[in-house]
Amino acid sequence: MALLYFSAWDDRGLWERELKALDPTLDIRTLDNLGDAAEIDAALVWKPDQGLLASLPNLKLIASLGMGVDHIFADPLLPKGVPIVRMVDDNLVDQMSEWVLLNVLRYHRAADRYDADQSAQLWRPGYPPDTGARRIGVMGLGAIGLDAATKLAKLGFAVAGWSRTLKHVPGIECHAGAAGFAAFLRRTEYLICLLPLTPETDSIIDATLLAQLPKGAVVFNAARGGHVVEEDLLAALESGHLSAACLDVFRTEPLPKEHPFWRHPKVRMTPHNAGLTNPKTAAAQVIENLRRLRTGEPLRNLVGRERGY
Ligand code: NDP
Ligand code: OXD
Repeated sequence: MALLYFSAWDDRGLWERELKALDPTLDIRTLDNLGDAAEIDAALVWKPDQGLLASLPNLKLIASLGMGVDHIFADPLLPKGVPIVRMVDDNLVDQMSEWVLLNVLRYHRAADRYDADQSAQLWRPGYPPDTGARRIGVMGLGAIGLDAATKLAKLGFAVAGWSRTLKHVPGIECHAGAAGFAAFLRRTEYLICLLPLTPETDSIIDATLLAQLPKGAVVFNAARGGHVVEEDLLAALESGHLSAACLDVFRTEPLPKEHPFWRHPKVRMTPHNAGLTNPKTAAAQVIENLRRLRTGEPLRNLVGRERGY
């Protein structure tokens, strides 16, 4: 079985080592040593070049190097009928929840204020805020959103979640679909986006959504830059309707040097590294899906093409 590895990241050596440790017979190709394209059975990819997958005539499996698959659907020449699987890795889920907890706690406990007080040598104690009164809303209750929401609820926050289909999760107020969106937004002071990027969720964080959040709300986005209409977010920050935005992902990555987010006093940023797939923990599921492909067993973490995630 021949696997094409393609990633915008230069982590080929790491993946090759971990995959080979699990299956020394695996024939791993890259664009540098592709050989006969007709021999490639499967492709393990992150942001594949347009038309790359279509150029592999016997491709039977497309595996995403990340949990998101929008980078695969972005290819207008994506071959139809080839199954797509994605990473669902506990280690990556934990990293994502850590990013959420780290940043939620920073705003909840006014970390910036105490940093500024330290710089100014000011001793200004106050009562810590009431955790149970802090209303957090998580958009997307999938592998990551559900984990983050559950961890926030365990800390004592008042957590609600919003998904496409209704969930029933103890300790979390669940909303779903268009019908549940307004009530979810109205009660949400900290909005956390953990949705996949699909035609339905593209640009979902726009002026209409932001206007439904209470004044002073904070938006956190660790999903995809395409969820946010950047001009609308900036306008809501300027008007004071939003008190802050905490962003890991952007429409253009790396974020261009001239972009206003870099220097905006109300924006906190990280460079799309809330979570990264670690080949050490994730290689096993690639090998398992290759095995299933050989035997004809159902693939793990199959993406719904019609849903786009
Ligand atoms: P999942 O596919 O497991 O979950 C997606 C969730 O979003 C589900 O609850 C789904 O609802 C909900 N959803 C999808 N479409 C809609 C819609 N139209 N309206 C309401 N809810 C919707 O995704 P993951 O949790 O694994 O990942 C989420 C995203 O996080 C990834 O797609 C990726 O873009 C991003 N990510 C970012 C990383 C980073 O480093 N910044 C790292 C890893 C991932 P339902 O349950 O009803 O299907
Ligand atoms: C992913 C990502 O989708 O890292 O896994 O963004």
